[in-house]
Amino acid sequence: MPPLTKQLGDVIPVPASVRPVPAASFTIIPGTGVSTVPEASGVAAYLAGELAKTVDGTIPIGPGGAIVLELDPALAAEAYTLAVDDTSVRLRGGTRQGLFWGVQTLLQLAPVVPGGVIEDEPRYEYRGAMLDLARHFFTAGEIKAHVDLLAQFKINHLHLHLTDDQGWRLEIPGWPLLTSVSGGEGTGVDGAGPGFLTLAEYADVVAYAASRFVTIVPEIDMPGHVNAVHHAYPALTADGEPVPRRTDAEVGYSSLVAGKEETYAFVEDVIRTVADVTPGPYLHIGGDECLSTPAEDYRTFLSRVLPLPGKYGKRAIGWHEIAAVDLPEAAVVQFWRIEAADENTARAAAEGHRIIMAPADRTYLDMKYDADSKLGLDWAGHVDVRRSYDWDPADRLPGVAEEALLGVEAPLWSETLRSVADIQYLTFPRLPAIAEVAWSPRSARSWESFRGRIAAFGPRWEAAGINYYRSPEIDWS
Ligand code: ACM
Repeated sequence: MPPLTKQLGDVIPVPASVRPVPAASFTIIPGTGVSTVPEASGVAAYLAGELAKTVDGTIPIGPGGAIVLELDPALAAEAYTLAVDDTSVRLRGGTRQGLFWGVQTLLQLAPVVPGGVIEDEPRYEYRGAMLDLARHFFTAGEIKAHVDLLAQFKINHLHLHLTDDQGWRLEIPGWPLLTSVSGGEGTGVDGAGPGFLTLAEYADVVAYAASRFVTIVPEIDMPGHVNAVHHAYPALTADGEPVPRRTDAEVGYSSLVAGKEETYAFVEDVIRTVADVTPGPYLHIGGDECLSTPAEDYRTFLSRVLPLPGKYGKRAIGWHEIAAVDLPEAAVVQFWRIEAADENTARAAAEGHRIIMAPADRTYLDMKYDADSKLGLDWAGHVDVRRSYDWDPADRLPGVAEEALLGVEAPLWSETLRSVADIQYLTFPRLPAIAEVAWSPRSARSWESFRGRIAAFGPRWEAAGINYYRSPEIDWS
């Protein structure tokens, strides 16, 4: 029997409540069975498949298995309990999603599962990561593999930044040049990373993410960040003249034309299409860095466009610049800057809008860890692992308190990325840090504890071929 080195609470994100019974433990071996209620058979199959890899043997599913999966409607939807003694492992979820998060906890502890009881549920309902497909395209298969890694840390939303000045990465019927021209060869930053998702591929990503209880949040960035649109369709520019492709990393120079009716026909077609293929509740309309859009035009544009997600059954999210205008009731504001305060975001919160916290100096995964980082940017400073961990979302902005927060997101912009290995290098170990900020109660978290728990992932990531950053802040040995 392998030695019992883990404690019951050695999980990321750290659970809300852990009551160890150190005298007991349960060891999962080939042949250990999983029994399940029929509604949770998909989760059971996932668990058995993952455990089979851990123990290098078969994990049968059927009545009488020592690992028992159940649903308990008395629990909150994403809540779960895990009870472990010498003879059984009992997992209960409020829904299949809660059960799936419990499965992630169990997988982090397996094969020797310490005895005791965990009772756990998330602090925030929105625990997000973002991937920028516009500056460098990643394929459906690569996005799906990334979803698997995110779900291990109970991240439940993946925001896909699908469009920007360089490229357009989602097929839109009726507007074929968006993808044939602006999704083609040479449309990533410095000419790298061509490609786009067909609607079928996008639907496949959405369905796969749903199987991991991750909701896809599509973003069409408007009215700025649209050079790829104007390059493909010059009729949408102010003077109807063509504009060159741009694959540099400048921002703030392009804008949809607020005074042109064609703009709104285009935007509504796109929003309707994206809403139709997106089962999740959110549609992100961008709104950031519109440095070349006159303030009056920005207001005019957003007053017509912000209601469109609602018209097609979705809830609009925008980067926090949108809080400068009157917002539709359900609109969500995503704070992304580094300033200590933001009046407009605070006013939106006071009006009852929910806020997603994504301050660049804490959560941007594309910031360099330190001056030696080979990848990433540094406009928001260096973000080492402790910086991404050691803060609290409810303290970040004056006027944006706990009740206003929908959650937390860790965006990964792709100007400096060229491969999946590059994604992983910037994501691990900072994403687990931010996942814990978003999931765990404030009272359960501490940097010293996180620092110890994350070290155990080094050997696992190495075994799985994941290119994590061996931060000197962590004692990986
Ligand atoms: C952003 O980083 N421009 C949202």
